[in-house]
Amino acid sequence: MQISHASVLTAEVLEYLAVDSGEHLLIDATVGEGGHSFAFLERFPNLRVIGLDADPRILSRARERLAQFSDRASLVHTWFDRYFEREPGPVRPTRILFDLGVSSFHFKAAGGGFSFREDEPLDMRLNTEEEENAADLVNRLSEKELADVIYRYGEERYSRRIAAAIARQRSQSPIESAVALADLISRAVPGPYRRGRIHPATRTFQALRIAVNRELDRIEQAMHGAVSWLAPGGIIGVIAFHSLEDRIVKRAFREKSRACTCPPEMPICKCGGSAELELITRKPVFATETERERNAASRTARLRVARKC
Ligand SMILES: C[S@@+](CC[C@H](N)C(=O)[O-])C[C@H]1O[C@@H](n2cnc3c(N)ncnc32)[C@H](O)[C@@H]1O
Repeated sequence: MQISHASVLTAEVLEYLAVDSGEHLLIDATVGEGGHSFAFLERFPNLRVIGLDADPRILSRARERLAQFSDRASLVHTWFDRYFEREPGPVRPTRILFDLGVSSFHFKAAGGGFSFREDEPLDMRLNTEEEENAADLVNRLSEKELADVIYRYGEERYSRRIAAAIARQRSQSPIESAVALADLISRAVPGPYRRGRIHPATRTFQALRIAVNRELDRIEQAMHGAVSWLAPGGIIGVIAFHSLEDRIVKRAFREKSRACTCPPEMPICKCGGSAELELITRKPVFATETERERNAASRTARLRVARKC
């Protein structure tokens, strides 16, 4: 099997989430093609892994890749927020890993319209059982709603122009393909931006993907669920790829590492609260120069790690 995705920060994750002897369970909440899970199963023979992924296409690749560890690895097709919503089972995970976003597989081989370079239907659903895809969204939302989505989730400064161009185009015929949308965006933005460092459709595509899959809401919810699932002393690591994701992780970790939740104007603590997490990384960990050179996807990756008290 040809692997599409080079896992990021693998050495760092193996170090921060290393296990000692004894029984351990890692929940790899974003198993993807199984790169991180493979590295853990190979390094720690006493570790069992449960791998989750919303995308059945990539899960079957993980199944193939992890076949040699089938007695220690099981895979579940699910959204991670839904998984951690349930009551935990009798065996609590001692390690939980999130490697957020999508895999290179989605851009290169999934055929789901994730890449603005491919002539594919504009879909972008990770879980194809969900109803609304990116084309539905692009053709349904009002111009203002579209501009808001593109601005909020893509941090795109030309969001209004792009939304206006989409509205003009779809009044003639619906926008159905990824390249059609990318071409339209290229034509809508000013020349210098079109010739800039990144393709002018990059941010809009990120925004639509986040909206279609409700990525940010899911991260927020899953952070709470995952921490409650974790065994005492267990470790959670989260790799984020952009500031929208990282902000949610940072805030969740900070809130859970504060003992007292009384309002700041309260002179003495009345809540009697105790911290749920102890931060292991005060600042995010970034990829080394060598990894950044080798793997472009690692350049924006940042890892935060915390221990359950
Ligand atoms: C960056 S990739 C993971 C790569 C993997 N760690 C590896 O080393 O091969 C992220 C994966 O998370 C999945 N994913 C994203 N959001 C999800 C969610 N809310 N629930 C479950 N899976 C999700 C994507 O389908 C994708 O396969």
